[in-house]
Amino acid sequence: MEKNQNKEEEVEEEQQVVNPWKVEAKEGGKIDYDKLIDQFGCQRIDPSLVDRVRRLTSRPPHVFLRRDVFFAHRDLNEILDAYERGEKFYLYTGRGPSSEALHLGHLIPFMFTKYLQDAFKVPLVIQLTDDEKCMWKNISVEESQRLARENAKDIIACGFDVTKTFIFSDFDYVGGAFYKNMVKVGKCVTYNKVVGIFGFTGEDHIGKVSFPPVQAVPSFPSSFPHLFSGKDNLRCLIPCAIDQDPYFRMTRDVAPRLGYNKPALIESLFFPALQGETGKMSASDPNSAIYVTDSAKDIKSKINKFAFSGGRDTIEKHRELGADLEVDIPYKYLKFFLDDDTELAHIAKEYGAGRMLTGEVKQRLIQVLTEIVERHCRARAAVTDEMVDAFMAVRPLPSMFE
Ligand code: TYM
Repeated sequence: MEKNQNKEEEVEEEQQVVNPWKVEAKEGGKIDYDKLIDQFGCQRIDPSLVDRVRRLTSRPPHVFLRRDVFFAHRDLNEILDAYERGEKFYLYTGRGPSSEALHLGHLIPFMFTKYLQDAFKVPLVIQLTDDEKCMWKNISVEESQRLARENAKDIIACGFDVTKTFIFSDFDYVGGAFYKNMVKVGKCVTYNKVVGIFGFTGEDHIGKVSFPPVQAVPSFPSSFPHLFSGKDNLRCLIPCAIDQDPYFRMTRDVAPRLGYNKPALIESLFFPALQGETGKMSASDPNSAIYVTDSAKDIKSKINKFAFSGGRDTIEKHRELGADLEVDIPYKYLKFFLDDDTELAHIAKEYGAGRMLTGEVKQRLIQVLTEIVERHCRARAAVTDEMVDAFMAVRPLPSMFE
């Protein structure tokens, strides 16, 4: 018995771990996304689906879609079928306010959601799970609520349309129809089921165990009567990184039992840590992350010091073998944020052949990221408390589908 248990633990240690709280590749390796797709049961986004989005929106697909950053989905085809028939949908995404400043990884789903909102002209709800972070981190209720408002400013700075967007804090909004849906979901999920999905143990407090319905129910339009009254069949599309998938596997499992549509998902890779692709960029390790509050000097020094290079040890070797683009973080970051396909292809060719050196690629990356971060800081500085109140007011959105 004990032997078996040890064996199970060993097997577990060897596996990659991806859940909303931990992202870790197998020892020394990279996250195996194909394996995740298999394990979670989602689908890969193929070029024909990207093409379909291009056709339906009559605009070029976002760089994150063109470059497979958003690489997996659930039922995206169904959402597009309905859209093609003239049925709109709504978008739902969120943020757990655990830190003052967001890092670049956090911006990815919001930048992409902004594109989806503009391209499909649909309403959006953004959940700030201040309750979640208060329960998982050592943060008081008040501090968590303060961080939620601060993070809302960064989110608004991504350019969302206030006439189509409702941002809410769980502490403020949970109640009424939203709470009724939480109770309905809660009644459909056994303790064994949440343990299976989220890996809770007997040591976890019951706050954690009871949280998943809170993140589940924004997937149902009836949780927002001020927005979607009488539109109970409106479909929901959730953009997020794949770490959030467990919440929505649970949601999709219970939806039909409640007579609700399953939410569709469009899921991204993780923007990797500076040190390499074994995990995601994480707010808890400042040296692994570029924050939206970093100065140009910070960005330069972090990239020069910490960004893992696929370049070779000596110039001679580098010229001979070329950089290993599979592990090179500066190149990978450019794939996320350098918009120009031709320039990216040029860098891949020259750097991969050893004609370009790591220093040059890092230099270009520093320029690109400094520009993005400075643009974000300017936009955030223009977000006033009144604007936050406007986005967070419980109100109808009369022009949300126009
Ligand atoms: P949070 O605050 O951990 O993350 C916010 C969003 O950022 C994504 N993300 C990343 N994306 C790419 N690369 C990374 N390195 C990276 N790190 C985080 C997350 O997947 C998420 O989309 N429980 C959630 C809040 C939430 C939510 C939602 C998220 C509530 N409802 C609906 C998505 C969809 C959380 O703590 O996210």
